Amino acid sequence: MKTKKKINLSLDKFIDFCLYNKKFGYYMKRNPFGAKGDFVTAPNISRLFSEMIAIWIISFWRSLGSPKKFNLIELGAGNGEMMKILIESFQNFPSILNSCNFIIHEKSPRLIKIQKGKLKKKKIIWISKLNKIKKIPSIFLANEFFDALPIRQFKKENNLWFEKFVNLDNKKKPFYFYKKTNIKNVDRNFGFMISKKQDFIEYSEQGFCYIKDLSKIIKKKFWWIIIN
Ligand SMILES: C[S@@+](CC[C@H](N)C(=O)[O-])C[C@H]1O[C@@H](n2cnc3c(N)ncnc32)[C@H](O)[C@@H]1O
Repeated sequence: MKTKKKINLSLDKFIDFCLYNKKFGYYMKRNPFGAKGDFVTAPNISRLFSEMIAIWIISFWRSLGSPKKFNLIELGAGNGEMMKILIESFQNFPSILNSCNFIIHEKSPRLIKIQKGKLKKKKIIWISKLNKIKKIPSIFLANEFFDALPIRQFKKENNLWFEKFVNLDNKKKPFYFYKKTNIKNVDRNFGFMISKKQDFIEYSEQGFCYIKDLSKIIKKKFWWIIIN
């Protein structure tokens, strides 16, 4: 990484840079999942996890009168393992298999490639924006998605609020520092005075945006589930 000019990034921008920078990003370089990677998630420990989700989807879909068409959207599909097992499970239930539009919303091009490799014989649509989803009943799945989104941090000292930043002027010696901030902007994002009784606030602006977008879809009488 070359850092010639002054580079100060808020914590969420720094995390986003670390995860998704085209050259150095954690999710851009390789497959971090599984025994040969850095960590294991529930779908990669046992197929039972995804099979149980599949059975829940089938029974819920039936309880709604088995709509002829519905979307199943996975947010942040990692190495594609959960989607693979869901589809394999649905193959024992042809009516739901034929009714389901399988959709993945994934940020990392590297992981999309891995997902496409694993799911090459399956009919799946990859979408970059949630507003591209067809307006029919929809189920959202998100395993370890919301907790993987970058966060911002704020602290109060002597009645003043500060936001955490990272300085990257010297690539060999990055360091954290705090910058005075107007906390009212954060209160406005929350829609209430969160700062009133707090000395420390940590939240994900991206997570907020997703919840807002998903809430709009749910309000139109669509359904969803989030697993974490
Ligand atoms: C911790 S991994 C979990 C992967 C998978 N759900 C599992 O349980 O194995 C987080 C996933 O969310 C994806 N992701 C993170 N932020 C995203 C965003 N803003 N839009 C789409 N995908 C995102 C990551 O690239 C990664 O695939």
